[in-house]
This record gives sequence, structure tokens and C-alpha cells, in this order.
Amino acid sequence: MKKLLAILLALVLVLSFAACASTNETTAEDTNNTAETTDATTDTDTAEDADTADEAETADDAETSDAAFTTVEEGKLHMSTNAAFPPYEMVADGEGFQGTGYEGIDVEIAYAIAQKLGLELVVDDMDFTAALEAAQSGKSDMVMAGVTVNEDRLAVMDFSDSYATGVQVVIVTEDSPIATLDDIEGKLIGTQKGTTGFTYASDTPENGGYGEDAVIGFDNGLSAVQALKNGQVDCVIIDNAPAQSFVAENPGLKILDTEWVTEDYAIGVAKGNTALLDAINGALAELIADGTVQGIIDTYITAE
Ligand code: ARG
Repeated sequence: MKKLLAILLALVLVLSFAACASTNETTAEDTNNTAETTDATTDTDTAEDADTADEAETADDAETSDAAFTTVEEGKLHMSTNAAFPPYEMVADGEGFQGTGYEGIDVEIAYAIAQKLGLELVVDDMDFTAALEAAQSGKSDMVMAGVTVNEDRLAVMDFSDSYATGVQVVIVTEDSPIATLDDIEGKLIGTQKGTTGFTYASDTPENGGYGEDAVIGFDNGLSAVQALKNGQVDCVIIDNAPAQSFVAENPGLKILDTEWVTEDYAIGVAKGNTALLDAINGALAELIADGTVQGIIDTYITAE
């Protein structure tokens, strides 16, 4: 009798999982996890039950396609970032998104990825260069910081599929004599240290840059913008989304119409950490396919 009850219970759990699976992915996963846990504690003796449990696990593996990967801290997904890059990552006033203390597009996408992988998201805020290095050296599991994929970075780390695009733009004061990219020559440019904006701007004129001496690297975008307001630099080169946000918060500034370079943002992991990268890409693909990623972007960036 006890055995029959156990089999029935297992059947009900598996069936209810199957029913959920076709309607809602997220719920299905949660339900499945619960089902597995319950199975494990209820099923101690019968071979049939063991089979049922195995089948449930196989189904789970196939669905999330997560081959064994490890993270820096068990059960957690550490995201290194530089949370001074609105609307991608900002220090929150209060609790932040889901109690992380942070908010922004990257924080919400990272949280959704962590959920899919059954992990708790931990946001580690630091300088931008340090955030890249943390992922490279395996101190964090991944860097998510509006990071542009480029060859230099591909040489030292691996990247996920892209989840957003950025464009380098130029911020000037409203009364600036700078009207086009050509007018920047001979002027002082502010950028954030370690960013692609810094790299392009300080490149040689033959490569489309303005030379090292023309560029000052600041700790973050806002410091560069403040330097522009104080007249310490003549313009700021930075990604379009934070540029919009800084200009909206600082009257007297504008963005030049000329867009410079279009870039792909992706998640960086340590070179060769394919198991984690595959898991991240699997989760990301689902979140892109079901519209979650676009939904998150749309809550922070209103279409023009
Ligand atoms: N997209 C640029 C880059 O990858 C700037 C990123 C800066 N991100 C940040 N969170 N401060 O270099």
C-alpha cells in the first residue's frame, strides 16, 4: 500500500511537471526541481520509482542543456561589473533589483540567466578594467558591463553571443565649437579608462584616432562628463546609452549627430571555460527567444 502510494505520488508529480512544461518554461523548471527533490526524499526502495526519477532528470538536462560547470562560489553566479554605466548597471538607491543592491539592463539579464541556471546572482562592483580582469582570471564567473567584443579582448577571454548593441558617440557642451568629428582634432577628449572609447580616441590619426596626448582617461563616465562641464576637456567619447543618460541629467550638454563606431555587447568569461559559456549561451538564447531580453532593454531605454 505504501509502495503504491509512493508510485502514485511520483506519477502525479511527473505528470504535473509534463503539463507545466508545455505551457511555461520557467514554472516548468521550478516545478521540476521540486519534483526531483520530493522524489529523492520519498523514493527510497522501489526500482520503478528510481526509473521515474531518472527520466525526470534526463528531461531536465535536455531542457536546460547544462553540462557540468562550476562557479567561483557554489550556488552563486558572480558578475563583475562597473556599476557607473547607466542604464546598463547602476548602484541602486535602495535594495536594487531583486535585492542585489544594483539595477540596470545587465543586472536584470544576469539575474534571469542565474535563475535559469539555478544560481543566485552576486554583483561585484569595481573599476571597468578590474571587472574585465576578474572574469579573465576566474575571480568572477563573468563580466557583464556593457562590454564590447573586440579582437584584443577575444585574445584574452571568451564571449557569449551578443545581447545588445552600443554606438560610440560624442558629448559636447551646447555652445561647443565642435560640430563634427573633424572638429575634435586639436581638442582634449575625455573617456573612461580601459574602454573602447578610450582605445579608439587615443589611436593614431591614420587609424581614425586623435593620438594619445589628446585623450584623458577617467575612472568612470560621469567623471569624464563632469570634467566636460568644468571645461577640463572639450568633449567626451562614450557609449550612446550612458551618454543619453548623462546628458539628460546634466543640462547644457548635447550629443553630436555623428555616430562613430557600432559595437556588440556580450558577456565575458575566462578563456576556455566552455562549460560555463555554453550554459550562459543556452540561458541567453532562451531569454532572447521569449522576448525577456528585449523586454528588459525596453524598460530602461525608450525607443526614439
Ligand atoms: N562598451 C565599452 C567597452 O566595452 C564601454 C563599457 C563600459 N562599461 C562600464 N560598465 N563602465 O569598452
